[in-house]
Amino acid sequence: MPVTTGKYGPLVGAIDEGTSSARFLVFAAHTREVVASHQIEITNTYPQEGWVEQDPNEILTAVKDCINKVSQILQSEEVELSDIVAVGITNQRETTVVWDAITGEPLHNAVVWLDMRTTSTVDAILETVPSKSLNYLKPVCGLPISPYFSALKLRWLIENVPKVRQAIDDKRCCVGTVDTWLIWNLTGGKDGGIRITDVTNASRTMLMNIETLQWDPMLCRFFKIPMDLLPEIRSSSEIYGSIANGVLKGVPISGCLGDQQSALLGQMCFERGQAKSTYGTGCFLLYNTGTARIESTHGLITTVAYQMGKKAAPVYALEGSVAVAGAALGWLRDNINILQSMSEIESLAGGVGSTGDVYFVPAFSGLYAPYWQQDARGIISGITDETTKGHIIRAALEAVCFQIRDILEAMSKDCGLQLTRLQVDGGMTANNLLMQTQADLVGISVMRPLMAETTALGAAMAAGSAEGIEVWDLNNIQPAPCDIFNPLVTEDERDDRYSKWKMAVERSFGWET
Ligand code: G3P
Repeated sequence: MPVTTGKYGPLVGAIDEGTSSARFLVFAAHTREVVASHQIEITNTYPQEGWVEQDPNEILTAVKDCINKVSQILQSEEVELSDIVAVGITNQRETTVVWDAITGEPLHNAVVWLDMRTTSTVDAILETVPSKSLNYLKPVCGLPISPYFSALKLRWLIENVPKVRQAIDDKRCCVGTVDTWLIWNLTGGKDGGIRITDVTNASRTMLMNIETLQWDPMLCRFFKIPMDLLPEIRSSSEIYGSIANGVLKGVPISGCLGDQQSALLGQMCFERGQAKSTYGTGCFLLYNTGTARIESTHGLITTVAYQMGKKAAPVYALEGSVAVAGAALGWLRDNINILQSMSEIESLAGGVGSTGDVYFVPAFSGLYAPYWQQDARGIISGITDETTKGHIIRAALEAVCFQIRDILEAMSKDCGLQLTRLQVDGGMTANNLLMQTQADLVGISVMRPLMAETTALGAAMAAGSAEGIEVWDLNNIQPAPCDIFNPLVTEDERDDRYSKWKMAVERSFGWET
């Protein structure tokens, strides 16, 4: 264990690069408390309908600026930067970056996980597989064929960007998810950066074999991806390399997980049967299935939850992915202008007492789990002349909760297990009305940790417990204190509202032209 003398003892940094912002947080290993943090928004661009891109250099600069800002904060508090013994990385998953190994420059904007540009490619692929089954590759990679995952984004970049094809021919093309881009740059970039990803991020590409945890030759052939382009797959917790430059020069990077898996870890869901739901741009419920891979027959994904060390057994999860959660509220604010700011949501939605039977299915880019309907589009139904903006805002909140119920129903069919409590985190969970509504609509207690930074904490824990760092002992960690929201409505009311939600969902199908 590294020796530190500072007032907090050993510190562990976490880079949390999400869809809408980049952050750097520093945790005290002994208390799990955040000592300092900084956040910078990331710009999403929408070049065409259904396309979502980000500038990889903006992401990288934001991460570096966050690190610098946090370092200044620590120094102003007379904390030695040398007390930071390791850094972990957690990131938006599936988002795909291509860059030039020689110049270090991106060859295109990053194609973001929400991007739907490959919808027609999916349709064409489905024509070629037995029974046009979305689940044709699921036994190998755990995932349904969907524009959501990286393989088709990468294939689009190879087929449509001449610079990418040229770089492949010249053997100077690097590809990866956001973790790979960041780690390569932070460990030296064109001057010797390492090209790796971890098992959790790799499990979202559709190119990794979910059993062997290696790139799968059949999947690479299926998606026409040259296998030698792909980074090396490593565990979620080991020393990958050290930061090459800047204020944290020499600090090991020793943890890496996709953000949803990181939140599972940060919520201490180490046991089979524990689950967490993170409410952000989208909403993602992960259910720890231990070392067993459960293949869902009800629309869920099999994914790697974490692998805590080179020799550790991988732990798997079933995941229910919801594309649009907080994004629906953002749409009401930015496109429909019935909200001035997110801080108004609770008072406007709370002011109406109910949705007045309005149902809002925010299927802006199709519906993910458990439906996987890429032809679904958003609808608001049940509007009367009594409907106000408060009802619609409340319906957007309820939509998040109903989608979680959809996923819990699928999970109980797949595993035969009923959750008895739901651990939650993410920006939206500050909204008490959302939390109470979630408990009411799923009929189990909702537990919200008092320390909200669970996603970043997971990456810090992976980094701090890696062999050679070991300032954290994950076998000896107490669960975090929580706020608890218990269900307050009757089962009849809960089921009645849920059956109307299902009617609204049916009506959202089949809209894509
Ligand atoms: O799969 C996409 C997910 O990782 C994005 O998470 O928190 O950036 O919305 P978030």
